[in-house]
Order: sequence, then structure tokens, then C-alpha cells
Amino acid sequence: MRDKLRVGFVGAGAIARGSHMPGWLRLEDCEIVALCDVSEKANAASAEVAKVGKQHLYSDYEKMLAAEDLDIVDVCTPNAYHAAPTIAALEAGCHVIVEKPVAASADEVRAMIAARDRSQKLLCVVQNMRFSNEAIAAKRFVEQGGIGRPYWAKAEYLRARGVPAWGAFIVRELSTGGPCYDIGVHVLDLALHLMGFPEPVTVSANTWLEISDKPSVMAHDPKRYTVPEELAVGFVRFANGACVSVGASWALNAPGNQNQVAIYGTEGGVQMWPFTLVREEYGMLLNCTPQVIGDGGAGGHSEEIARFVNAIQTGGTAPVPPEQALITQRILDGIYASAEAGEEVEV
Ligand SMILES: NC(=O)c1ccc[n+]([C@@H]2O[C@H](COP(=O)([O-])OP(=O)(O)OC[C@H]3O[C@@H](n4cnc5c(N)ncnc54)[C@H](O)[C@@H]3O)[C@@H](O)[C@H]2O)c1
Repeated sequence: MRDKLRVGFVGAGAIARGSHMPGWLRLEDCEIVALCDVSEKANAASAEVAKVGKQHLYSDYEKMLAAEDLDIVDVCTPNAYHAAPTIAALEAGCHVIVEKPVAASADEVRAMIAARDRSQKLLCVVQNMRFSNEAIAAKRFVEQGGIGRPYWAKAEYLRARGVPAWGAFIVRELSTGGPCYDIGVHVLDLALHLMGFPEPVTVSANTWLEISDKPSVMAHDPKRYTVPEELAVGFVRFANGACVSVGASWALNAPGNQNQVAIYGTEGGVQMWPFTLVREEYGMLLNCTPQVIGDGGAGGHSEEIARFVNAIQTGGTAPVPPEQALITQRILDGIYASAEAGEEVEV
């Protein structure tokens, strides 16, 4: 392996620039050497952050893959364009890290996993919420038996007034889904991660598009709003008897944002915001929240990128393997399918 792993980006927009590049730039054994974005403006802004010369900026990722001898490709395109560059990069012999939601459908995820298997490289999905100090502490608590057997979880990312007015988030052909895909995926992934990824069986769900055109909601251009929902709510049953309630909104007539991932088990529970661990001990329900849970500094993206690189260097497994993302994607797809069918569906 060479001294510095050569990293290229496909998609050099907001999340690439604001959260991924700082993660790569702090790693001494990696260098960002090339960027590919269909927008010249995005390429130029990101080139400044990553210190990439003009001759290494591309608008066609196939050309970048052919020219740059990359070790790693970081895919930060809109959701509908995750699968194609991921598969192309794996076929070019690169390890790949790709933003959430991993793809636009479960079938696309299966194709990405097949490409990963053919290439024998690592494929990792960005789920940065897992890598906060609190989430790492919660995982340790649950894994070591702190809550006993988990049987119910709540995964809610409910924004009262938060329809994204920028980027691709409200455009169906780019993002495929609305808040269900965009922010629901974060909290659902974290809940499943803490529960140990049980096998989902059925989903009953509904979606709504009721208030996105109200004056207090509208920072966006209504003509661009083509994703199916502003609110998605679902109830997921797992083969082991556990259940998860999911909710994600960009607009809801609530007093404020209501974000929560909470896992309830036979011996205790976890609540992420505010971070609280409880456990039945000595005939009482004790608050077991750690006083110190780390330095609090590392953003989830940087921590995940560092772990991904470590896995590449040590022959380990991806910190967020696509098999787990496939389970999450099946549930998200199930939410839309159930909402459309008006009944519970198998996932
Ligand atoms: N993990 C997180 O916290 C988080 C936060 C925001 C966004 N995201 C995800 O990151 C991805 C990108 O979101 P963003 O906010 O950076 O959006 P963005 O619109 O700022 O950036 C996306 C970039 O991809 C480029 N692009 C589109 N098609 C392309 C193609 N075929 N080849 C090369 N470039 C192409 C666009 O020109 C744009 O610059 C989305 O999947 C989104 O869900 C994750």
C-alpha cells in the first residue's frame, strides 16, 4: 500500500465540502487528489477547500476514474446518483464511501453489494450519527447488556419548519424521497444499529403532503417540490418480536423540532436527546448516564471516515456495511409502498 491513499470525490457539493473534506484533510495518510462534479461552481469551491489543482477537476467520473489511479472514491451526489458512480468506482478497483440514503431503492443497493463482492474492495455507507460520542457510548451500553433485550424503539426526526430551500432535497428525480429518505434514514439507522439490526418483516405507514405550501413553511420554490411527502410515519415489525416507530417530517404543526432515538429493553433504556441511559438495578430505575463521554469534538463524518480508512489499512470491515444499509432501505421503501397501498406491507 502506498504512503498516502489517493482520494477522489464524485459530487463536490455542500456535504462533501462541509463535512467530508475536513475528515479527509485531517488524515495524514490520505490525500484528496481529484474532484468530479457536474457543476463547475461546486468543483471550484471544493477545489479551494481540498487544495486540488484545476487539471484534476472533472465533470465525468468515468474520466476521473480512468486518469487518476485512485484508491478511494467518496460519493456525495444526490440520492438518485449514488449507485452508478459507486459501482463504476468499485469496478475501477477503488474502495468507496457513499452518502446516505445509500441509494434510491433496495434493488440498487443489491447491485452495489454485488459490485463490492466482485471487486473485493470495501463499500461503506455514511451514517455519521452512529459516530457521535453519545451514540458510541449508547452502543457499548446496549451491546454489553445494559438494557437487556430491546423490544421497542422510537426513531423520530420531526422538523416543524424545515423544508430544505437549497440543494436537491425536494426534487423527486434527484432525491427520490422526501424527509423519509433524507432525515428518517439517520434516526432509523441509529435505532437499528443500537438494536443490532433485527430482520424486518412488515411495515405499516402513511405519508402526507398537507402544509408545505403554507406561508410560514415556504422558504422553497413550490414548483420544485416534487418529492412525495412532507411527513412520513411508520410502524415496523421485526422477526424477533421487536418493533420500531418511525417518523420524519420537514413540516409539521408542532411547537418545535422533535428529534429522538430511544430504545427500550427488558432491563433498561437509551434516549439520545438529551442523552440518558437508564437501567433497573437494586429494585430501582437508575440513571446511568456517563459523566464524561469523550472529548466531544469529533463530528460523526470525520470519525466514520477515519474508521473506514483504518479498515482499509488493516483488512477490516466497513464501519457501516451496505448489508445494514440494505435493511434500512427496505424499510424506507416499505414506508412508501405501505402508504401507497393503504395497508401493511412485507419488506
Ligand atoms: N450525512 C449527512 O449529514 C448529510 C447531510 C446533507 C446531505 N447528505 C447527503 O449527501 C448527498 C449530497 O447532498 P448535498 O447536500 O451535498 O447536495 P449538493 O446539491 O450540495 O451537492 C451534490 C453535488 O452533486 C453534484 N452532482 C449531481 N450529479 C452529479 C453527477 N452525475 N456527477 C458528479 N456530480 C454530480 C451536484 O452538482 C452537486 O454539486 C445526498 O445524498 C444527501 O442526502 C448527507
